Amino acid sequence: MSDDASHPPKTAPSGAPWRNFYGRRKGKGLRPSQEAYLEEDLAALSPGPVSWEANPERRPLDLASRFGDREIWLEIGFGGGEHMVHQAATYPEIGIIGAEPYINGVAMLLGKIRAAGVENLAVHPGDARDLFDVLAPGSVAKAFLLYPDPWPKKRHHRRRFVTPEHLEPLARVLRPGAEFRIATDIPDYVRQALEEVPRAGFDWLAEGPEDWRRPWGDWISTRYEQKALREGRTPHYLTFRRR
Ligand SMILES: C[S@@+](CC[C@H](N)C(=O)[O-])C[C@H]1O[C@@H](n2cnc3c(N)ncnc32)[C@H](O)[C@@H]1O
Repeated sequence: MSDDASHPPKTAPSGAPWRNFYGRRKGKGLRPSQEAYLEEDLAALSPGPVSWEANPERRPLDLASRFGDREIWLEIGFGGGEHMVHQAATYPEIGIIGAEPYINGVAMLLGKIRAAGVENLAVHPGDARDLFDVLAPGSVAKAFLLYPDPWPKKRHHRRRFVTPEHLEPLARVLRPGAEFRIATDIPDYVRQALEEVPRAGFDWLAEGPEDWRRPWGDWISTRYEQKALREGRTPHYLTFRRR
């Protein structure tokens, strides 16, 4: 099947726009403990109605009912959730929403939330684009995109997160001045990010030519970063600010 955008936009019976997703939603079988986390904990961590079935009018989420007047941060593709839980524990005064369609990753996050006892998190077990639809404009103060899927083949670059399809709605939900952090081990991903992210309304905040080598002060290495280091690739840390 062609993955290009040359066809008119399709919609699902729910009215949802057709959004191609090329990643994995499920991996190997879940452990019984992980099945239990999903069954017992996930519903209570919902940020509100995100799916098109539950919220066909795409009403903005009522985040105040969950987080009060806390600032809201967003992690896109949290993987196993180590960074998200670390941020939540470091900043209990912030509310953090994570989006991740890979259910094994969601189950791992839930285990870490139980172990850490953090309460300032919400989880959308799905595509970040569906979440963007239902976040009010300017409602998010910081976003993290950590080791996004690299899609190394040139013909697949359009699947990368750093494309207008993803960056424009992200820019809409971020407030002016909001920070947007990207970590990647793929030099061509850096190239595309430095082209596309400014175009979507962000400035790159590089303090000197070696700035990209320095992790953030509150950084914790993720599973994918560990894999990249084991395989001899170099992490790049990019910080942008929403104009
Ligand atoms: C290479 S993994 C990195 C995971 C984690 N951030 C880390 O550093 O270990 C990329 C993750 O992004 C997720 N992802 C891909 N497309 C996404 C989307 N549209 N919305 C949310 N997450 C997405 C994938 O399911 C995958 O878990």
